[in-house]
Amino acid sequence: MFATFDDGLEAARRRFARRGFPASVPGVDRPAFEIIRDPAAMRARAEDLRRDGRRIAVVPTMGALHDGHLALIHAARARADIVIFTLFVNPTQFGPTEDLSRYPRDEAGDLDKARGAGADLAFCPDVSAMYPPGAQTFVEVRELQKPLCGASRPGHFAGVTTIVAKLFHITQPHLAVFGEKDYQQLALIRRMTRDLDFGIEITSVAIVREPDGVAMSSRNAYLEPGQRLAARALSGALAAGAAAYAAGERDGAMIVAAARAIVDAEPLARLDYLEVRDAAELTVVERVAGPAVLAVAAFVGKTRLIDNCVLGRAGSPPSA
Ligand code: PAJ
Repeated sequence: MFATFDDGLEAARRRFARRGFPASVPGVDRPAFEIIRDPAAMRARAEDLRRDGRRIAVVPTMGALHDGHLALIHAARARADIVIFTLFVNPTQFGPTEDLSRYPRDEAGDLDKARGAGADLAFCPDVSAMYPPGAQTFVEVRELQKPLCGASRPGHFAGVTTIVAKLFHITQPHLAVFGEKDYQQLALIRRMTRDLDFGIEITSVAIVREPDGVAMSSRNAYLEPGQRLAARALSGALAAGAAAYAAGERDGAMIVAAARAIVDAEPLARLDYLEVRDAAELTVVERVAGPAVLAVAAFVGKTRLIDNCVLGRAGSPPSA
């Protein structure tokens, strides 16, 4: 007898392969969980999978996984034969005064969670493998990277789009899954994918929230109990702005004012930005006439948190 179902499957696969049957059947069986650290090995593996007719999805992350990340893996699992989970804390997207060195890390725990959520393969490269000495090429989405988080985190989005472009080349996916929590990041990645003809389908997943409305984030781990309560001001502000919109308000400044009052009332929160922007171009919207996003960033202590909601979209305002 076999110790596990996977062992039995593997033995059956070997038996069939010896008899000249294909080693795998697209969409039917799944290989055992695999961890790859070398970019060249990852790329070779992805090319093999493609040759076998497998549809590949990639879920890029920086780890410290929570249910928001796991929702991305579930979405990928439902849409592809092979789910590649990537874990890489990307130094080029952190500013010199940001939290790179204290960013939460738990590789073993993350690998367990990713595998449990349905990932087949984890790509966990070292920094030196992704940025060998002399690396000097960056991918930038010129306009979309400028406002909102781009204004307060210079260079951040160039780091994001560069690493995502590299991960796309290395993992060769048909599909990539990102969260709407990082709204501007998602907009940039969609634009980069289109502008550079990556031919990859970009799927997005709605923001996963804690029961009190706070958007799940790896950075919530930094918050002390009082700060964690104060973090509710972000989703609370979005709910107030969305309520103003639902009541018929279309003036962007009035929607922002309704939202801003909630953050201003929270002494532990310091606003970075709170804006209504066009949902696709991220340009300033004075009157909301089409799809628009209400986006907020605020510091709670030293921790910078972000959140957003798309105005007028069912289920989008967080119920705080
Ligand atoms: P990270 O912050 O680890 O997030 C990985 C993915 O999880 C992103 O697509 C993000 O939008 C999504 N995510 C995070 N919190 C979420 C939530 N509460 N609900 C839904 N999705 C959520 O974003 C990055 O890493 C990096 O910038 C990366 C794209 C990996 C490039 O380094």
